[in-house]
Amino acid sequence: MENRRNQVVASDGVRAMMESALTARDRVGVQDFVLLENYTSEAAFIENLRKRFKENLIYTYIGSVLVSVNPYKDLEIYTKNHMERYRGVNFYEVSPHIYAVADNSYRSMRTERKDQCILISGESGAGKTEASKKILQYYAVTCPASEQVQTIKDRLLQSNPVLEAFGNAKTLRNDNSSRFGKYMDIQFDFKYPSLTHSCSSSSPPPPWYLLRRQGAPMGGHIINYLLEKSRVVHQNHGERNFHIFYQLIEGGEEDLLRRLGLERNPQQYQYLVKGNCPKVSSINDRSDWKVVRKALSVIGFNEDDVEELLNIIASVLHVGNVQYGAEDGNACITSDTQIKYLSRLLGVNGTVLTEALTHKKIIAKGEELMSPLNLEQASSARDALAKAVYGRTFTWLVNKINASLAYADDSYKNYSVIGLLDIYGFEVFQHNSFEQFCINYCNEKLQQLFIELTLKSEQEEYEAEGITWEPVQYFNNKIICDLVEEKFKGIVSILDEECLRPGDASDITFLEKLENTVGGHPHFVTHKLADAKTRKLMGREEFRLLHYAGEVNYNVNGFLDKNNDLLFRNLKEVMCMSENKILNQCFNREELSDKKRPDTAATQFKASLAKLMEILMSKEPSYVRCIKPNDSKQAVRFDEVLIRHQVKYLGLMENLRVRRAGFAYRRRYEVFLQRYKSLCPDTWPTWQGKQADGVATLVKHLGYKPEEYKLGRSKIFIRFPKTLFSTEEALETRKHSIATKLQAGWRGYSQRSKYQKLRTAAISIQAWWRGILARRRAKRRRQAADTIRRFIKGFIYRHKDRCPENEYFLDYVRFSFLMKLHRNLPKNVLDKSWPTPPAALTEASEHLRKLSMQNMVWSYCKKISPEWKHQLEQKMIASEIFKDKKDNYPQSVPKLFVSTRLNGEDLNPKVLQALGTEKMKYAVPVTKYDRKGYKARPRQLLLTSSSAVIVEETKLKQRIDYGDLKGISVSSLSDGLFVLHVPSDDNKQKGDVVLQSDHVIETLTKIAICSDKIHSININQGSIKFTLAQGKEGIIDFTPGSELLVAKAKNGHLSVTAPRLNSR
Ligand SMILES: Nc1ncnc2c1ncn2[C@@H]1O[C@H](COP(=O)(O)OP(=O)(O)OP(=O)(O)O)[C@@H](O)[C@H]1O
Ligand SMILES: [Mg+2]
Repeated sequence: MENRRNQVVASDGVRAMMESALTARDRVGVQDFVLLENYTSEAAFIENLRKRFKENLIYTYIGSVLVSVNPYKDLEIYTKNHMERYRGVNFYEVSPHIYAVADNSYRSMRTERKDQCILISGESGAGKTEASKKILQYYAVTCPASEQVQTIKDRLLQSNPVLEAFGNAKTLRNDNSSRFGKYMDIQFDFKYPSLTHSCSSSSPPPPWYLLRRQGAPMGGHIINYLLEKSRVVHQNHGERNFHIFYQLIEGGEEDLLRRLGLERNPQQYQYLVKGNCPKVSSINDRSDWKVVRKALSVIGFNEDDVEELLNIIASVLHVGNVQYGAEDGNACITSDTQIKYLSRLLGVNGTVLTEALTHKKIIAKGEELMSPLNLEQASSARDALAKAVYGRTFTWLVNKINASLAYADDSYKNYSVIGLLDIYGFEVFQHNSFEQFCINYCNEKLQQLFIELTLKSEQEEYEAEGITWEPVQYFNNKIICDLVEEKFKGIVSILDEECLRPGDASDITFLEKLENTVGGHPHFVTHKLADAKTRKLMGREEFRLLHYAGEVNYNVNGFLDKNNDLLFRNLKEVMCMSENKILNQCFNREELSDKKRPDTAATQFKASLAKLMEILMSKEPSYVRCIKPNDSKQAVRFDEVLIRHQVKYLGLMENLRVRRAGFAYRRRYEVFLQRYKSLCPDTWPTWQGKQADGVATLVKHLGYKPEEYKLGRSKIFIRFPKTLFSTEEALETRKHSIATKLQAGWRGYSQRSKYQKLRTAAISIQAWWRGILARRRAKRRRQAADTIRRFIKGFIYRHKDRCPENEYFLDYVRFSFLMKLHRNLPKNVLDKSWPTPPAALTEASEHLRKLSMQNMVWSYCKKISPEWKHQLEQKMIASEIFKDKKDNYPQSVPKLFVSTRLNGEDLNPKVLQALGTEKMKYAVPVTKYDRKGYKARPRQLLLTSSSAVIVEETKLKQRIDYGDLKGISVSSLSDGLFVLHVPSDDNKQKGDVVLQSDHVIETLTKIAICSDKIHSININQGSIKFTLAQGKEGIIDFTPGSELLVAKAKNGHLSVTAPRLNSR
């Protein structure tokens, strides 16, 4: 399909392709009578119908009019799939169908925003009601729906079974014959609420309007026409009363029937036995009852409403069973059973009702008189009551349904409407009465409307547009309409006059009056006025009307009564007093006080038809013409005579002739050009010249053949729908490509502008960022220049007192000194390096240096071991004693002091034994120089806690208590000689001891510590004097030399030469 659409461009090739597709579907006959070869032949017309009917193709078009033949069997053509197939598709694309008509109206309503109506006509049993139901179902299924819409859809659909139960009956022609006319508006929320105010119709609506356009059915309204009330009291043989009576009796629950006083047997009721046909095989009253009960609740009837309604229905049956007897010629009621039921069911006073059913109230000279009725009068009063009650209840029912279908949203009244007219078709019976007169009058009016809307206006338009055209001969039935409805002279006026006239007016006087008034009318004949041939076919009480559809004889019997439709005043009064709420609304008390006679039935009907014509004229019509194939309700049978008759009175041949002669479609040049200009490069996007020329160019480009169209003064006329449809198709395809182009253009535009926006944004960000960077750089440069300038200035002023010119420089120097210092602090206590501070920081630098040193010392101290501490303490003491005083001291510094130079094995055990418990603290091998001759002798010096002991191998040669040690002398040279001075008066001692140790610094330090004689060590230059035994004095001379030499000098002194190790 899509593929096919894409190929459709307005060219001959494509046109040919589409037409061939059409023919393929037209296998059986033609699907549009317009395509009939011999279109003037009725026989060819009927043959086409027959061929198609045989193949179950019940639908055929005459242009846009749908002809439908009742199949009398279920065809599988009403499924959801079928509905979908017709949805939004052009007429000619699919085979003819009632759904196509429905869809076309729906789309026209949407695109042209014009209210639509679908007129369904045809005789009884032709399938009008079924067609209207199919249309309703189509809308219910295919239109968009919300929850609220679903309720309305349900109510629209469910109004049918209810109205059919109360308004349909089995007749000889149709088992479900509608006995009333029905016009139903379906309201769609299609119009834009304020579009008419804010936008011109030529400019497209803004998108948000489109969103509001749902196209959903939002409500409905029903107008009913002339219910056949006479059926309530009388039915012809083989016919029934309205379905509801049988449904109630068959389907009503036992309790309900008991309450209503009814028996489950229709034969018990006088109003149900007249036709002698209580049961019909095609009707299941029991299941229909259930359907109706459910439908009532869907429509919104509550239990009370239903109860009151059924009370009325039962009451009608009871009224029918009221039996009269005669008493002195006056009617009386023989049994009060019915009266009891009636008074209970209707809530009326039984006595008053009984009186009203047997008497007539007469008001004479302002006085009310009760005049008894005779049997006949009483029966007709009773029947009038039944008819009035049923008739008014039916109207109430329609109003009630209307209330439930009413458009819910009051603030949003602007809707579009599709009207469905399902009204009785032309009727010709053996005996035709007032009802047939009204019905046929209605059909004359509809024909007139059809003529108005199609034939006449069409021809007038061609003339106005200057289109050459052969006028089609058609019969204008206005003359018959006038005959019926003209004021004063028309049949209705004459009938009314007879009804209102005082004196003994009767149906026969009415007939005479007709003869006198309209006797000369070409469409009116009576027995008296007719020629001999006609006279044979007419009764004396009949008049004949030559309707557009055929001749009908009407029997005048009952015309006056039916037209008067009178209900005696006292019966009206009783009904006004009823406690039944429905009757209360049906019988208005104001009616009683209203002195004016109510309009007669015919006048009311005439007025309602006039209104209906007005409604239909304001809408765009579509037609469904229903045809009944046979009188026996049989599938397959195709009764040619019957069908020819229907083809004739439905005016189908005329219809076809006009179609063929005329043009299917016309549009003003500007509208046509505006719509299709995109199909031609010369007219797209704008046509500069005259609109007519534009259209001519356009159709030429589209390849219209001369016979397909005509150009009028202001409009183009297109003869065949398919020409237009192919143009529409081409537009549809074109729309796609235009839309694609627009989309592409728009996408390009939006992408470009997006890109431009991005670009501008990027550029501004870049510029902004560059600005920031440049400003930052400039600032830095400025700051740098400032700094350099201040630096230079500071440098120049650096020797001045702190002043603004040099403070930066000074601070900088200070800062950089501190930063440098922080990075170059001495690593350990021996590291004496320290950056040179600027002048201003000399003091602080010194403090810092000390702090740093203290800190290092402190942390060093924290880290040293007790042994090392002891070592250092000894070294400290050594330093205190010898530093800068003895030449070999520096050499001793790096050498560690040991705890002892002699271990246990170096000492003789005897020595150790001699020492006893005295603990030895230090031992060192020494050389002792004799006091005499200074002979060198190897000895060991042991230090205990209390004395220094000199040991010669195994013997303790000398013990010097530390208390006796007067002092120690040593030279300042690098030799190892030292003298321990002891008191000279001590005999135990043999004088001072001269010793030599290789570790003189260590040995002396140990002695000084052990004896606590640190300050008693004398370091001498040149020579040391010491005491020999018995107070004699010895001298040791020290001289620096190249190598150590100890020898007795000639002067008796001990001469020591020691090499100089450190230059001083
Ligand atoms: N399209 C159809 N498909 C099958 N059966 C149909 C169709 N149309 C009508 N019928 C049959 O024909 C019967 C009569 O149709 P319908 O009631 O619509 O006639 P009508 O034209 O409304 O008659 P009336 O004027 O008496 O109301 C239906 O009950 C149904 O059985
Ligand atoms: Mg019907």
